[in-house]
Amino acid sequence: MRRSVIKGTGRYIPPHLVTNDDLAKIIDTTDEWIQQRTGIKQRYWIEPGSVTGSSDLALEASKKAMDKAGWKPEDIDLIIFATLSPDIFFPGSGVFLQTKLGLDSTPALDIRQQCTGFLYGITTADAYIRAGIADRVLVVGAEVHSTGLDKTDRGRDVTVIFGDGAGAACIEVCESDEEIGIIGHALHADGKYAESLMLELPASRYSPERLTKEMMVDGREYPKMDGSRIFKLAVKKLPEVTHEILEKTGYTINDLDMIIPHQANLRINEFYLQKLGLPPEKMFNNIQKYGNTTAGSIPIALDEAIELGKIDTSKDLVLLSALGAGLTWGAVLYKFS
Ligand code: UT7
Repeated sequence: MRRSVIKGTGRYIPPHLVTNDDLAKIIDTTDEWIQQRTGIKQRYWIEPGSVTGSSDLALEASKKAMDKAGWKPEDIDLIIFATLSPDIFFPGSGVFLQTKLGLDSTPALDIRQQCTGFLYGITTADAYIRAGIADRVLVVGAEVHSTGLDKTDRGRDVTVIFGDGAGAACIEVCESDEEIGIIGHALHADGKYAESLMLELPASRYSPERLTKEMMVDGREYPKMDGSRIFKLAVKKLPEVTHEILEKTGYTINDLDMIIPHQANLRINEFYLQKLGLPPEKMFNNIQKYGNTTAGSIPIALDEAIELGKIDTSKDLVLLSALGAGLTWGAVLYKFS
């Protein structure tokens, strides 16, 4: 039976460190508030003044993942690129990454599912592989948030949270009758919450122009979030989708060796773990160092957890889960072998 296994992971975090105290110099916030409410101590942003798109960060993460997988660019059958901060409005970042990898005909698919983007991405990769359409899929989640944040007091709730970064995974076909690799997925969306977390402008729905100076007066070109609504949805839906995927695949909560959740807020993840009744060592968090890197957060955390030896890549059962803008949420269950 065709199955999909992770042959290599990689991450890239840009070098420009921004501490909470650095932010407190430009907006009305404090290190104490940010740490208490989110767990974040610092994040990395691209070098101010540089021309660095999500595809540039994705390229570095992809090269590391491909080194570990033993892949050359020409081995890739499909590139899946998850981001909410594409290099430009269109085309998507997938084609920029493709050409930076030195390729000129490999298909590239962009996924706009924000925090859940990497999960939608590897689920799509799994479907392509199981259907026999592809043998090797490069899935990348990458974000450059820092150039699109409202760095005034008005945007402080959102601006302190986000960091730039990229993570990648090389997903490859494996013929096996054992239940290994990607063994289950549960993806969801509820569009009625679309405007609870969004970046509205430029918007093609507005005529005659999608972006005018008048529209920008209220900062509608910056992300806006109803934080407490998203928070409440997250602590409800993340445990729900965890139980759903376990039920679907026939595992129990105690079979899980590690949870790699999206890194939106350390408090969300602590509530989530508490609701599952699992001890702290069953979840890996690194939001303290990187902030919320949205589509990048799960592959970055997965790569770091593997590097730190938090996952036994010969046998562990690992759950990846996320909730974010859309509203989208979901989980993927993965068995290392
Ligand atoms: O990855 C995408 C999905 N996103 C999420 O999952 C995010 C979910 N939401 C959250 O993480 C939290 O709601 C936040 C961290 C965004 C905010 O934390 P909160 O505990 O929900 O705070 P709040 O929005 O209720 O605001 C509490 C207070 C307010 O002041 P008043 O009205 O009580 O006087 C805010 O104005 O904190 C104020 N505040 C800040 N103070 C200092 C908001 N942002 C800041 C800030 N620094 N950066």
